[in-house]
Amino acid sequence: MKAIILCAGKGTRLRPLTHTSAKHLIPLANKPALEFGVEKIVECGITEIGLIIGEDNGEDIKKAIGDGERWGVKVSYILQSKPLGLAHAVKVARDFLQEECFLMFLGDNLLKNSIYPYRQRFEKDKPKALVLLTRVENPEQFGVAELKENRIVKLEEKPLKPMTDLALIGVYFFDSTIHTAIDAIKPSARGELEITDAIQWLLENQYEVDAEIIEGWWKDTGKPEDILEANRLVLEDIERDLGDAKIDHKSKIFGRVKLAQGVEIINSTIMGPVIIGERARIVNSFIGPFTSLSDKVEIENSEIEYSVVMANTNIKQVRYRMQNCLIGKNVHIYRSVNIPLVYEFILADDSKVRLI
Ligand code: G1P
Repeated sequence: MKAIILCAGKGTRLRPLTHTSAKHLIPLANKPALEFGVEKIVECGITEIGLIIGEDNGEDIKKAIGDGERWGVKVSYILQSKPLGLAHAVKVARDFLQEECFLMFLGDNLLKNSIYPYRQRFEKDKPKALVLLTRVENPEQFGVAELKENRIVKLEEKPLKPMTDLALIGVYFFDSTIHTAIDAIKPSARGELEITDAIQWLLENQYEVDAEIIEGWWKDTGKPEDILEANRLVLEDIERDLGDAKIDHKSKIFGRVKLAQGVEIINSTIMGPVIIGERARIVNSFIGPFTSLSDKVEIENSEIEYSVVMANTNIKQVRYRMQNCLIGKNVHIYRSVNIPLVYEFILADDSKVRLI
């Protein structure tokens, strides 16, 4: 069995971060989000992975993931030059997939548990498709399934009036019949070839489509608040490891805190779960729960919690506690000490700043 991971999406809801970086590479607990997906697939025993990339983000993704050697698998790259839908991505991957069964995984998905049991079930029962579902509070924003026992009877993409709260989570197993279905469907109202419509086509043509409701959390990391929540979920599982960090006697480190090489902590309090990257420096500060600080981040005379801060960013003398922050690379936030005391911003398009 092969796998494809779909990463061609532009991540418009994560601007401005996605102006300069692929959304799939935004770090969660200091690891690019996409690596969590690759690991799930590797854990499932699949050794040939096709990464479907877009024109804007492809090079960054190639650089970050490489040829798969790190995981002992083979990663190939397939260009989807236009975002014409998930089923279109499968079409683009046709040569890679040939007639084999495959796992399709949406690159912005994050889930807690292994998907290996579902692969086993798919291979044992041999339906034409097996889709994974979870209950959500906002089904109108997803593909929604109606079930009878374990079988799907109907699927709808983003219905205005959902019949159930069972959303497609973006993990699908298919055999080659899906290619016939994709060739038969037409683009949806949003102009995309929807994989949901292709699976509905299988149902209408009396093919067997099975479903499993997953256990454990699942997160679609499309919006800034999702990234912060996904970061929290991943941090829930880290272990305390202070490594060789330099921590002075005035500092206090509580709970599950993971420090990379060369971290320096001076007169500060760190309250886990927190992860801090290589050569980061924390001085006279408070780092609160569910915070990830990447390599070479510097925090001075400031307080921050429930946030993600990317590499080489400096935060100094911020008067109030920072919370719910998603901050990119090489950002400088500092207090003006000279007259005139003014706010001075250099912000990329689509930035968001909330002042008190
Ligand atoms: C896609 C699928 C949808 C699925 C969702 C999961 O939606 O079309 O069926 O529920 O992913 O994240 P999109 O993210 O393209 O809006």
